Amino acid sequence: MTNATNAYEQARARALNDPEGFWAEAAEDVHWYKRWDKVLDDSNPPFYRWFAGAEVNTCFNALDRHVEGGRGDQVALVYDSPLTGGRVERFTFAELADRVARFAGVLAAEGVGKGDRVIVYMPMVPESVIAMLACARIGAVHSVVFGGFASNELAVRFDDAKPKLIVTASCGIEPGRVIDYKPLVDGAFALARHKPARCIVLQRPEKPWALVSGRDLDWEDVAAAAEPHACVPVAATDPLYILYTSGTTGTPKGVVHDNGGHLVALNYSMKAVYGMDPGDIYWAASDVGWVVGHSYIVYGPLFRGCTTILYEGKPVGTPDAGAFWRVIADHGVNALFCAPTAFRAIKREDPNGALVKGYDLTRFRTLFLAGERTDPDTLGWAERILAKPVIDHWWQTETAWAIAANCVGLHTLPVKPGSPTKSAPGWDLHVVDAETKEVRAGEIGALVVKLPMPPGALPTLWNADERFVETYLTEFPGYYKTADAGYIDEDGYVYVMARTDDIINVAGHRLSTGAIEEVLAAHADVAECAVIGVADAIKGQIPVGLMVLKAGVERDPGAIIEDVVRMVRERIGPVAAFRTALVVERLPKTRSGKILRGTMQKIADAEDATPPPTIEDPAVLVEIETALHGIGYAGAGTGESPSP
Ligand code: COA
Ligand code: AMP
Repeated sequence: MTNATNAYEQARARALNDPEGFWAEAAEDVHWYKRWDKVLDDSNPPFYRWFAGAEVNTCFNALDRHVEGGRGDQVALVYDSPLTGGRVERFTFAELADRVARFAGVLAAEGVGKGDRVIVYMPMVPESVIAMLACARIGAVHSVVFGGFASNELAVRFDDAKPKLIVTASCGIEPGRVIDYKPLVDGAFALARHKPARCIVLQRPEKPWALVSGRDLDWEDVAAAAEPHACVPVAATDPLYILYTSGTTGTPKGVVHDNGGHLVALNYSMKAVYGMDPGDIYWAASDVGWVVGHSYIVYGPLFRGCTTILYEGKPVGTPDAGAFWRVIADHGVNALFCAPTAFRAIKREDPNGALVKGYDLTRFRTLFLAGERTDPDTLGWAERILAKPVIDHWWQTETAWAIAANCVGLHTLPVKPGSPTKSAPGWDLHVVDAETKEVRAGEIGALVVKLPMPPGALPTLWNADERFVETYLTEFPGYYKTADAGYIDEDGYVYVMARTDDIINVAGHRLSTGAIEEVLAAHADVAECAVIGVADAIKGQIPVGLMVLKAGVERDPGAIIEDVVRMVRERIGPVAAFRTALVVERLPKTRSGKILRGTMQKIADAEDATPPPTIEDPAVLVEIETALHGIGYAGAGTGESPSP
């Protein structure tokens, strides 16, 4: 038996020893049309399903339930948009339920029903939340695509998800520029084999969209004419959404989250992990295109009856590094969740936190950071300037909620800088070696979760059960591979150190270096290439490309670099933040021909880079070091990205 000394330890012990009892109890806190036959269906391992046999509606739990329970007049959603000149709009639970019901009616009138997919490609406007909840209302499966992705990425998602319909907006707004979505969406229609039958467009005044007859519908027109649609009961195990995330190849993985388990876990996490109660005001400064946006802009806060903030702005430059404090003060925010990169950006502009003093942060209780490791410097700085607890927590698109956290709603543990604290209740986390043997405390290994995972975690990949098993469940039998390496110390604190695959984390955005390499390799003059993630003072990491040109190529290498930078922007999107590439004579390889990306990354970051004994020619490393030094890395620079 675990020695359970506080509410956190008790919850963790109970969730490990009696998962079904634990999660059945958590499930009492949500609305079901029909209760489950089995809390955990483990009849088909390694596929596990929570709340099998139950019927539920996610949108009902986010909205209608609160209206019926007397919260109809409470603000559910605050839209705050410095990028449109300071627009603020508030929607009560009753108003949001009405808007969502009407848009659900629009979708239904277009023939979208239970199980049909809808792509949502939208900026940070209330209609993105309305579209997601409207899908949930009628049992359709949404797949939100981040606005910083280009046509090709959108097309890949069309082909995989086969949506009946796409909901979009005429433009996104980034500081200093308006992003015209029409060429991006038209481009995806041109590239994709599967074309959605309809495109519903929210017209924004900054850049209207000329409707394509027979394909496009104006959001306002169709919403005005729509009949509100009731919530449709779906199976707890039915998919709620697909969110594509970088895999180890250029083809993104469609991570699936279901209705019942997701609802129970997210609702539980709002209290246990974040300490939120109904009526509290919660702000996740992320984007609806990422899992943080799904879980903690849209679903978690609304399930819990909290007010959620949708912020169309940046941590700096909209208009200054006091933007976050302004939003907290204006809306009485109790908890903020963002990526450490945002705090590094604020720190660079306002190193002493002078701007904090201009705002009333008395209602603010806790800062939560995730998306990448919170470096101890950023942690200490945030604690100092805010004088509030700063909580690092670790999770993934696949898990939908925290694997490890300091669960302030249960019992706050002492913070150890560099650690997201301990595994959250329900996560049976281990560190193992290549033979799946548990390593000793403090020793680095693969971070893995013993199956079954708790509710909320992905049950599979969209239309790709085999890829799901192969990607996550095969290397360490009986466990889910997080693809993060790290260790657990003597006190049970988790340390997440690095990805074990080709994923890099750029400004809190997850990118595959393999996907960027595919773009570089497609250039006519490139013989072979490697992309590595090098340390960056603000973004955490940025991608750097190394290319070997084909024999006989006489073009100026600078022009080829310009080409590939443009190609990555066009094919993946500006979010890849790919600006730096260099041409080298050769790439370092093992004798079996494997490119030593990890060794090059260590050289770039001026870390100790002992190459493997199987290296073909160690002299190549010297050439690489010189080349990287020449562009400001390998000990030459400050860790800031060199200018493009
Ligand atoms: N639509 C279109 N383009 C977008 C976009 C969107 N939704 N989001 C970002 N981009 C563009 C940016 O404009 C930028 O373009 P540029 O190359 O022309 O300058 C590019 O993508 C890279 O963006 P980003 O990496 O975000 O860098 P930045 O310099 O604009 O901002 C930060 C840096 C740190 C302020 C910003 O990255 C940030 O706030 N990050 C937080 C990330 C986050 O919330 N992650 C979710 C996990 S919690
Ligand atoms: P995403 O799926 O985009 O949320 O990215 C998940 C990945 O981000 C994880 O697998 C980690 O590599 C990294 N990550 C997220 N949060 C943390 C954290 N708190 N500490 C360390 N790494 C993190």
